[in-house]
Amino acid sequence: MTSQAYHEALISAAKTMVRVQNPRSLLKMIARFIVQQVGLTHASIVIHEAKRNRYIFVDSKGSERIPTKLIRLDRNNPLIEWFLEKDPKGKGKKSFLLYSELLKWVNANHTNGRYKEDQKAHLVELKNIMATLKSSLCVPGFYKGELLGVLILGEKIDHESFTPDEISFFQALANDASIALKAANLRENLLQQNLELELKQKELKEKLHEIELMRTREQATYHQIVLSLAREVYAKDPYTSGHLAHVEKLGIMTAQEMSYDLKDERKRNTLTAALHLHDVGKIGIPDAILKKKGPLTDEEWKVMRQHPIRGAKILEPLTEFRDVGKIVLHHHENYDGTGYPYGLKGEDIPLESRIISVVDAFHAIVSTRCYREGRPVEVAFSELEKGAGTQFDADVVHAFIRAYQKAEGKQSAGKRSIERIA
Ligand SMILES: [Fe+2]
Repeated sequence: MTSQAYHEALISAAKTMVRVQNPRSLLKMIARFIVQQVGLTHASIVIHEAKRNRYIFVDSKGSERIPTKLIRLDRNNPLIEWFLEKDPKGKGKKSFLLYSELLKWVNANHTNGRYKEDQKAHLVELKNIMATLKSSLCVPGFYKGELLGVLILGEKIDHESFTPDEISFFQALANDASIALKAANLRENLLQQNLELELKQKELKEKLHEIELMRTREQATYHQIVLSLAREVYAKDPYTSGHLAHVEKLGIMTAQEMSYDLKDERKRNTLTAALHLHDVGKIGIPDAILKKKGPLTDEEWKVMRQHPIRGAKILEPLTEFRDVGKIVLHHHENYDGTGYPYGLKGEDIPLESRIISVVDAFHAIVSTRCYREGRPVEVAFSELEKGAGTQFDADVVHAFIRAYQKAEGKQSAGKRSIERIA
């Protein structure tokens, strides 16, 4: 081949390398290309395997091909070491090794004693390896000083020596292939990393899903516990039997009268749950206080007044009950700011808490307790009216009375007991 022909072959090879993405198939193409274009007995390629830091044969082409699977070259193999070491004469790396030259050095070594003993042994080892590999020429491929591979070339079929043009061609090819190999490796690593990342993301997603499921299960269990706590509170006090359902019904009626959006499922559930659970905090209050027949002492009141805070705390872990907890916390606030636990005023008190405050008070007045008879509905209305604007939100009081009367009117024109409406 002429110098021009090598140049053209090189350009064509470089173009192909850019297109090939699989490094192994690229190297196989190079081996085939060399054997065909230059006419060699064989062309083999070893490349660096980063994982194990050794050099392996990836392919061998030609009539005298090497059994590539059988051969591994460690980093301390004389051939690899030869190319890893810097050229003592030149500044950079060694760029090729001709068997014919190596023979000359070994013979000179024997005759002139120019080399030290270890160097002698090294050159002989090198010669033996090249002989075993039936190699006439070895050409390294570097990328940024890193030895990525070696072209191991057999003899030319015409038995001629390699020309300087041919050697330059192999050098250019080896270095171009190294760049392509490095790029392909980087691309593969990147793809691998991407794949690992995707896997990790998938795992993470699954874990999150699992956590979410566990959280939902926990919430459901806790929900059940809270509901049974609430039932227990009401079961403690005979007055409260029927209290829950009654307060709930009155509360819903009042909310409806105030155009509260009961069609909004979240709002409806929040209001219902709050009406149901507003006194759940009483679970921590001693029976001696809770069931006391006479008026409470100041100390006892202090304990009693803790129940909205305790209730909110019980509901705190239930994320879907966050609003419910807030309503429970403020169901004993007064409209004029004289209530507890925080003395909130007016609209600062959640509407649902203001509704609970009215229906709870109404229910307490009309219910028969162990220490007194329940009073008539009219008395309860007048008590609520008295408290409108101070203890209670006047709008809620009026809405409640209207709703109650409407319900009563629907039932019958005559007087109805509170139990029947409930
Ligand atoms: Fe309460």
